[in-house]
This record gives sequence, C-alpha cells and structure tokens, in this order.
Amino acid sequence: MFRTKDLSDILRAAEQGEHRLKRVLSVVDLTALGVGAIVGAGIFALVGTAAAGSGDRLGAGPALMLAFLVTALACGFSALCYAEFASVVPISGSAYTYSYFTLGEVTAWIIGWDLILEYAVGNVAVAVSWSGYFVELLRGFSIELPVWLTTNYNIAAQHPAVLESAPHLFGFPIIINLPAVLIVALITLVLVIGIKESSRFNAVMVVIKLAVLLFFILLGAFYVKPENWQPFVPNGWGAVMTGAALVFFAYIGFDAISTTAEEAKNPQRDLPRAMIGSLVICTVLYVAVAAVLTGIVPYQRLNVPEPLSLAFSYLEMDWAAGIVAFGAVVATTAVLLVFQLGQPRIFFAMSRDGLLPKWFAKVHPRYQTPHVTTILTGVVVAFFAAFMDIGEAAELTNIGTLFAFILVCAGVIILRWRQPELNRPFRCPWVPVIPVLGMLICFHLMLSLPWVTWIRFFVWLGIGMVIYLCYSRRHSNLATQNK
Ligand code: ALA
Repeated sequence: MFRTKDLSDILRAAEQGEHRLKRVLSVVDLTALGVGAIVGAGIFALVGTAAAGSGDRLGAGPALMLAFLVTALACGFSALCYAEFASVVPISGSAYTYSYFTLGEVTAWIIGWDLILEYAVGNVAVAVSWSGYFVELLRGFSIELPVWLTTNYNIAAQHPAVLESAPHLFGFPIIINLPAVLIVALITLVLVIGIKESSRFNAVMVVIKLAVLLFFILLGAFYVKPENWQPFVPNGWGAVMTGAALVFFAYIGFDAISTTAEEAKNPQRDLPRAMIGSLVICTVLYVAVAAVLTGIVPYQRLNVPEPLSLAFSYLEMDWAAGIVAFGAVVATTAVLLVFQLGQPRIFFAMSRDGLLPKWFAKVHPRYQTPHVTTILTGVVVAFFAAFMDIGEAAELTNIGTLFAFILVCAGVIILRWRQPELNRPFRCPWVPVIPVLGMLICFHLMLSLPWVTWIRFFVWLGIGMVIYLCYSRRHSNLATQNK
C-alpha cells in the first residue's frame, strides 16, 4: 500500500509515452490559464452568502475582506509547496502524481479520489452559479423562465408559491435546475469533439473576466458608503473563518496550472511563477471586490445567488448589473471548461498507473479526446447540478481540496527528508515552516466547515478506500510488475 513510484520511471513514462503532449505554453499563458481557472463562482456568487450568512451560518460582514486574505495565505503557502513538487515532477496529474512517489500508492489514490471532489463537485457549484447569472441575464432581455426550472428543492421549499407552481409527479413537485444541466451538456459535447485547447480562446475569456471585475471595482467605488463597513466584524472571528472556509472556493484552480506541466515550455521556472502570480492578481481583485460590495450594499442583504449584480440593481443601475451578469456567465463558462477538461486528465493518469480500469484512458478514434471519461464526468456533474445547492457543493469541494493541499504540504517535508539530494529547480522557502503553516491554516479552514460536510467527506473517502482495496491495489501497475 505504501509502495512508491520511482521518479525516473515517472519522468521516462511521460517523455516516451505515445500520449506525449506538445510543449507550447509560456509563463503568460500559464498565468492566464490560472486566472481562467480561478475567477468564477467563488467571487461572483459565493461572496454573497459568505458576507451575509444563511440559515444557521453567521456572515463575515465587511470582514469578508479579511476572509479573503486568510484564504490567500492558505493558498499561497500551499502554492509554494505545489510549485516545488511541480518543478521536481513536471508531469500532468497534479497532486496525485506528486504523492505517488513520495507518500505512497494509497495516499496517491486518496488524493486522486479526493480531486474528484475538487474538479467534478466543484463544477457542480460553478454550473449552478452559471445558471443563476444566466437567468439574470435573460431577465434583462425580459425573458422569464419558470422558477421551478431554474432552482433546487432547498430554495424552492422556502417559497410555497414555487412549489405549487411546479408540475408534480406522483405527488412530488419537480424542481430542476435546467440551465445548469444544459451548460454542462454543451461543454461536455465541445470537449468530446475536441476544441483545440486554444490558449488564445482562454486569453479572451480571461480578459473579459478581469475587465468585468475591474469595471465592478472602479464604478462601484464611487457608490461606497463607509458607514456600511461599520461594524467591520459584526459576528466575531468565528464567522470570519466560516466565511473564509466558503470563499476558499474562489481561489481553487491555481493548482490546475500544475496539471499542464507536460505542456509548459519551461515548467521548472514557469510553473511556480504562474501559480504565485495568478494568486497575487486574484487576491488583490478579490479584496477590492469585497470592499466595494460590502460598501455599497448593507451586508445582511447579500445572501442571493447574484450578489455582484445585486449591488448595481440596488443602485438602480440595471445596465451595469447586466454587464456584470454577462461577465459572470463568461467567467463561469471558462471555469467549467478548465475543470471539465482537468477531471478526465486525472482519471487518465490514474488509469495509466492501473489504479482505474484501462477503458478510462480510451481515446476517441476520430476526435482523439478521452471521450469515455469526459462523458462520464459530464453526466455526473449535470445530474448533481440539476438538484444540488451551490453552497453544499462548494463546501464539499473545499473540504476535499483543503485536504489535498494538506497532503501536498506534508509531501514536501517528507520528500526533503527522504530524498534530500533530489534536483529541485524551485525550492519552497523556509521548509518546514511554510508547509507546516500551510497545513495548519488549511486544517483550521476545514474545521470551520459544517459537520454535515465532514460526514459527506468521510463517506466519500470510505467509498474510495473500498474501491482501492477491492480493485486498484491488485490492478496497479506496481503490483503487477512485482509479481
Ligand atoms: N475558483 C473557481 C471558481 O470560483 C473554482 O469558480
């Protein structure tokens, strides 16, 4: 179970494999890819709930700005660890691959299994956010979809009129988030047919995202009322941490840069730069957005699916709300694409190692894309996006991702101790202080998540362990080689 892969084997397999990828991405492309994966549902949707709270959860209020800084620290420390790993093992597959040769097979499996939470469940949340802003955009053109077709049961249950208006099947109201399903279906189709993973297309998306966030900050700044920032920490530090644990979602994605290591021109130098660079850009923007948002609208009112549009609607500037809604739809489409593309690659890496059946790595004869896993991911994400609540999906994503970060931080310390002589083109500074701080902050954020999220997380890991013990352990390439 604790057998590890040999690093030279890993590097050789990637260099010789029939699936060797072209090295074309520069540091600017990689940073753009990072920002493309990072800016999405977190900043456009979850900030509202994080500031205002919902149900039993208390909101962070204007201290949402601090929540973003705490989270940036957790991500920054973890990014330095990711960067060290990515420079030693410049191979796609992300944390899964790194842990295979440091922490051993079972940990690699747990991380790979856990990354499904980050990529697939994360996309459930992003699809739901996409739907929210898309409906808002349609409303701008006076097109109203029936509410039962655009929401989930949890929300509908709070509005008896919505439940009554829905068609019923065997006495149960049908409530389904149809736009979320359709966008996932469309993206899956595009990925199966095989868009040229054009970094130019990504660059256009990134420019639109950044332009819309800057538009929000610069225009909104004129309407900030500093009295809305008082009291700054209305519900105590516990609530700020709860908010931080939710908006952590807004930063997820910088690690996706490491999955492109096989396509980077100079991965050793550029991966660390791109990860840290995209994190810094996003942190500055996020803190500014949080400041403007809570400065315009009293924070208690922000628990809506489209808080950034709400800020301008609140000012009766519907044209500006429309621009923001458009930006949010573009931003979340880009995130959906990156993650929907990333998930099959992780399956691909796991299948290449024998931990998943070989058909997971099948490539379509005509389109040359990993169609089996792309479709599987699409079907599962679309199904859950039809019914799940954005907050629940985001929290499950966060707990899984934070756990993966902790394992990566631990992996850096373990590898320094086990293989000190290894060539490390990028070295995380102050080891073990930085990785330990990274682990502590990530764990603290995990503890700030609701217990129901913990239960779901353990159930997920439990299912993963059963699959590992019954299938992967015996089929792993390492096991079959040693026979
Ligand atoms: N960081 C990505 C988003 O907020 C996952 O949508």
